[in-house]
Amino acid sequence: MKEIPFLSLKDVTALHGQEIREAIERVVVSGWYLQGEANRNFECDYAKFIGTNHTVGCASGLDALGLIFRAYIEMGVLKAGDEIIVPANTYIATILSITENGLVPVLVEPNPNTLEIDDSKIEAVITPRTKAIAIVHLYGRIAYTDKIGEICKKYNLKLIEDCAQSHGCKSYDGRVTGSIGDAAAHSFYPGKNLGALGDGGAVTTNDSELAEIIRALANYGSQKKYVFKYAGRNSRLDEIQAAVLDVKLKYLTQDNAHRQQVAHYYYEHINNPLITLPDLLPDEQNVYHLFPVIVKGKENRDRLCEYLKKNGVGTLCHYPIPPHRQECYANASWNTPRLSLPITEQIADEELSLPIGPTITMEETAYVAELVNRFV
Ligand SMILES: Cc1ncc(COP(=O)(O)O)c(C=O)c1O
Repeated sequence: MKEIPFLSLKDVTALHGQEIREAIERVVVSGWYLQGEANRNFECDYAKFIGTNHTVGCASGLDALGLIFRAYIEMGVLKAGDEIIVPANTYIATILSITENGLVPVLVEPNPNTLEIDDSKIEAVITPRTKAIAIVHLYGRIAYTDKIGEICKKYNLKLIEDCAQSHGCKSYDGRVTGSIGDAAAHSFYPGKNLGALGDGGAVTTNDSELAEIIRALANYGSQKKYVFKYAGRNSRLDEIQAAVLDVKLKYLTQDNAHRQQVAHYYYEHINNPLITLPDLLPDEQNVYHLFPVIVKGKENRDRLCEYLKKNGVGTLCHYPIPPHRQECYANASWNTPRLSLPITEQIADEELSLPIGPTITMEETAYVAELVNRFV
């Protein structure tokens, strides 16, 4: 029996293994492990790739998000109790970054056909306390719409992008995610389209003041050695990770193209009546970090997962429990009484992510599609 893992990080690293090892070796022998040349090079290359004036490396995607909100608080743009509109269907980190800063998440349901925030539901939840919209390009799909841009302008809201899953994805007019809003957070968690060999993250922005404050906040609040302007934290991208990311960045577009080829195969061949695929987007608008399918009914979803597993195919659910149903938010003021978000809850019950990545072969892809079609 074939074994097709959900994602083999070993194979992903091996794709560019020699170059990665050489880059690591250069850092090892340099004797300089933080805030050095590898960070400067990567920040410069990533800013060029995204199309912003600034990239600030930090320790994780969660930190990147949290640092953006914290910096806006330092700038007086946000204050505790302000409301941030955010998709209900997202990974918990997006919500954590809001609540850890004393801000209030206002959860908006996704469009069931795209699984991304439903822009027709945003205006109805705006109040005088609304100060920002945090969009998430979930699964690698573009979440930005012109309507979201217009709402931000109309109500003078900051637009923050969570690009943890969207490295290289573009809007229909060619802007790379991470350059569309006022500030954007990126994760380099190993499994991402641009993944490090450990944790890593970055903020991209054209706002020089914001970038400078974030850089200070991530360095204990210091802009000058042993002088602390802010009560900051330690959240830095280390030199080894920056060097690895700089190598992998060169191949990101090529790796994303392979994901798109795999996704096209799935779109063209999966025809099981129990399964629905999200609306197909033009390639540049989806870098297929994940390939989510919706299976009619939780029981069928769980059975499909088991059946694929028995046949050697790894899958995952993104995500089985939505943030508003998590224990950590059971008593949150914004979640009392417990929110009812039926579309998000249905996605949690019915979503299953099929294997996709830069190393799955087309033969393996065909095997997965065939298995999925045989499932009854
Ligand atoms: C949508 C989203 N936001 C934020 C994060 C947090 O990134 P990190 O794991 O690097 O903290 C992740 C992923 O892990 C994510 O998927």
